Amino acid sequence: MKYAVIGGGNMGGALIRGMMASGIAKGNEIIISSSTPASAEKAALSLGVLSSDSNAKAVSGAGIVFLCVKPAQALSVVASLAGELAGKLLISIVAGIQSEELHRSALGATRVIRTMPNTAVRVRKGVTAIAPHSSCTSEDLDQARHVFSSVGSVLEVTEKSLDIVTAVSGSGPAFALLMLESLAQGGITGGLDPETAKIFAAGALAAAAALVLETGESPRALREQITSPSGTTAAGLGVLEESNFSSIVQQAVRAAKNRSVELSKKS
Ligand SMILES: NC(=O)c1ccc[n+]([C@@H]2O[C@H](COP(=O)([O-])OP(=O)(O)OC[C@H]3O[C@@H](n4cnc5c(N)ncnc54)[C@H](OP(=O)(O)O)[C@@H]3O)[C@@H](O)[C@H]2O)c1
Repeated sequence: MKYAVIGGGNMGGALIRGMMASGIAKGNEIIISSSTPASAEKAALSLGVLSSDSNAKAVSGAGIVFLCVKPAQALSVVASLAGELAGKLLISIVAGIQSEELHRSALGATRVIRTMPNTAVRVRKGVTAIAPHSSCTSEDLDQARHVFSSVGSVLEVTEKSLDIVTAVSGSGPAFALLMLESLAQGGITGGLDPETAKIFAAGALAAAAALVLETGESPRALREQITSPSGTTAAGLGVLEESNFSSIVQQAVRAAKNRSVELSKKS
């Protein structure tokens, strides 16, 4: 299978790194195009894949086309490729752009699957939501599952839920990284060197995620187990609760979801 990646930026690059690390695609089976031939070539060189000086040429030899441009460019890029995309499978990772709009922009001749991966596909620990459009076949869905399960886990969802999935899972790693940065900064302020503080902070977030995923217990139950009355954890959690930490994080999720809805209305 040959893959074209339209937009070799952060997420396009992360997906490519993950696919290559998993062994499902070799460098000579992936071709990138970007906004300019020079940037496509630069990205291709750093990733060890092929580059194309135009989107159309990249798409022409591919069976599966990943759309990895920013939302503002998505529909015009697809419309400009309608001829080349005919009969192919287009997998979009673009936030907020509905699959029906993509299908229509490709003049109805392209099978479309909308997905929402997160940035951890780069290290094969991503979570990808897949929402098939009515134009795609069950084989297309299997192929999308095959690709994304090589770079993490896959959940099939309805397209209606993609806005909230985008907020929790697509943007969520950035929210968690802010928590990690803050935790590490607290460690530095308390006397740790930056590298040590970063490792402990990353380990703390990884520990929380591993406990939830591997025990199947709820985050609340696990948190309560490690919070002794009047202990150190209770002292810290008290500060977070006084500052409405949970409500602030929920507001961030709501803002990200609303932005995704806004983007889909503009498309
Ligand atoms: N960031 C995340 O965590 C995340 C998670 C899930 C989904 N997404 C979605 O992933 C998409 C890409 O995000 P990103 O963070 O990877 O953005 P990015 O780093 O800015 O990458 C966008 C890429 O699109 C290329 N591009 C721009 N115009 C183009 C055109 N006309 N033809 C071909 N390529 C073009 C850019 O080329 P140049 O390199 O030449 O500028 C760049 O390589 C977005 O739609 C976003 O909603 C992001």
